[in-house]
Amino acid sequence: MAETHPIRTFVVRAGRMTDAQKRALELHGPNFIIPYSKQKTDFECFFDEKKPLVAEIGFGMGQATWQIAVQRTEFNYLGIEVHTPGVGRLVMEIANHEIKNLKIIQHDAVEVFENMVPDASLAGIHLFYPDPWPKKRHHKRRIVRPELVSLFASKLAPGGYFYFVTDVEEYAISSLSVLSENPQLRNPFGGFAPRQEWRPETKFEKRAKIAGAEQAAWELYFIRSGS
Ligand SMILES: C[S@@+](CC[C@H](N)C(=O)[O-])C[C@H]1O[C@@H](n2cnc3c(N)ncnc32)[C@H](O)[C@@H]1O
Repeated sequence: MAETHPIRTFVVRAGRMTDAQKRALELHGPNFIIPYSKQKTDFECFFDEKKPLVAEIGFGMGQATWQIAVQRTEFNYLGIEVHTPGVGRLVMEIANHEIKNLKIIQHDAVEVFENMVPDASLAGIHLFYPDPWPKKRHHKRRIVRPELVSLFASKLAPGGYFYFVTDVEEYAISSLSVLSENPQLRNPFGGFAPRQEWRPETKFEKRAKIAGAEQAAWELYFIRSGS
């Protein structure tokens, strides 16, 4: 039978690693990186303390990721990213800041959600500045599309949140309707959400503000229904 090729939400970029990132990966990778597996996984055993788990999809270089983990210590965090230099960078930050409540999986987040994350197990999902795939013919690669939103929603515990931020207005508007149409999610804000004060501002937002942009980020914050 012919193998099916899933439509990936990313392209694997080569990307150069700095020596520090390489060293960090060799030295600390095994302590902070959870190997991908096709088994449903109890993530609690990877953390020192038992806390509700928040997963981040596509953390890039991980700047917001580690800052949130340091500030909002009431949660454990699972950062998922495919890009090796970003993984190296975040491993370095975890080691430098001695962060105990953040671990990494280097793999396609869609497969991690499908195969590893148990249903109704997450307290939250972060999706910050996902690739917007601006060309119409590439919209099928967007991570905010109905079937993936259903997958993500099914992994949230009742009351868990899905927090999405983008700087692309058209992606924000289409995501608002995709998320609103999901029967498992409800929108406590009606439309776009206010900024969550604990989310650090990225360099893109700072730059956009300096350049006088009216809005540098569109935010969506939905809650998994049920009790
Ligand atoms: C535009 S970047 C944004 C990075 C970061 N969230 C930020 O705010 O700077 C999107 C990132 O998502 C990652 N990504 C996209 N789809 C992914 C997937 N299915 N699994 C893991 N990472 C993914 C890409 O490798 C890329 O690093």
